[in-house]
Amino acid sequence: VAPLKVGIAGLGTVGAEVVRLIESQSRVLSARCGRGVRVVAVSARSKAKKRGLNLRGLEWAKNPLALANDPKIDCFVELMGGSGEPALSAIEAALRNGKSVVTANKALIAKHGSRLAALAEKHGGALNYEAAVGAAIPVIKTLREGLAGTDIHRVYGILNGTCNYILTRMEREGLSFAECLKDAQRLGYAEANPSFDVDGHDTAQKLAILASLAFGTKVNQSAVYVEGISSIAPEDLRAAEELGYRVKLLGVAVRTESGIEQRVHPTMVPKSSSIAQVMDVTNAVTIDGEGFPPITLVGPGAGGAATASAVLADIADVARGIRAAPFGRPTAKLKTTTKAPMKRH
Ligand code: HSE
Repeated sequence: VAPLKVGIAGLGTVGAEVVRLIESQSRVLSARCGRGVRVVAVSARSKAKKRGLNLRGLEWAKNPLALANDPKIDCFVELMGGSGEPALSAIEAALRNGKSVVTANKALIAKHGSRLAALAEKHGGALNYEAAVGAAIPVIKTLREGLAGTDIHRVYGILNGTCNYILTRMEREGLSFAECLKDAQRLGYAEANPSFDVDGHDTAQKLAILASLAFGTKVNQSAVYVEGISSIAPEDLRAAEELGYRVKLLGVAVRTESGIEQRVHPTMVPKSSSIAQVMDVTNAVTIDGEGFPPITLVGPGAGGAATASAVLADIADVARGIRAAPFGRPTAKLKTTTKAPMKRH
């Protein structure tokens, strides 16, 4: 079988790590997929930037759109980020060309996911976005495939590594918010614009994606109530601790009689609860389904290596010819939540 030919748009922290991993894991990948996986072309803003990568032998596309239209490419991997251009047009073009698309772009999937899913289905390519939520945690696969037959009541968790890292260090070390954020940026956890992290929008995007998979709703970030952590100080965390609580930024999507409620806000969780034990950059997602106790997935939620591992899993699915429907058919109604009904969990 011919190797899968991959084109990668975006060579930042994640993109560079994906190139590196495809090279270093090539034996494992081809054994698992039954065929090789080869990066043949890339595009990035700067060709000259030092990335510590061997990019010799790779073709440089003029821009992401040219890469998406390159007939040599079977699988277009979008790792530029941003909910709009140039990522959107490039993904649309790749899908229209019948190619499969792999992306880590939660902002784009949260905004355009349902429409792009229809485009993928129409033209026969896959649209895989495991890395968009929970980095290395296989939560998309779990909801989309593993729990495809389960009636889900609630999905909630810690979905932003940067915020959890900041809250952990503020609580443990009494450091200021600004200092902790700077470290999260240095470690490659934060978004290019870190207000997406600390103001809760990144969590809201991820929650909208999870809710869509769990409940069969249209992906809709604007229906999420959002409150971030930027006004929290070390004293607030100490006060919560004295009362036996820890503060976590949670995303919660729950089925109610009037529709699916989605909300993101700092929440006081009892120190003895399992979610309170989730520290640093770790993410956790709990899924409450009918007929059995909740399932919780815990793992690294941000960072180049953790995110790249999910991108690789998606590429491996394309190489194997696995093509799950990107989202189900919308069946449930969303409720627009304008206030947080509770701050304790
Ligand atoms: N900025 C995101 C986070 C990256 O901190 O969780 C992973 O989506």
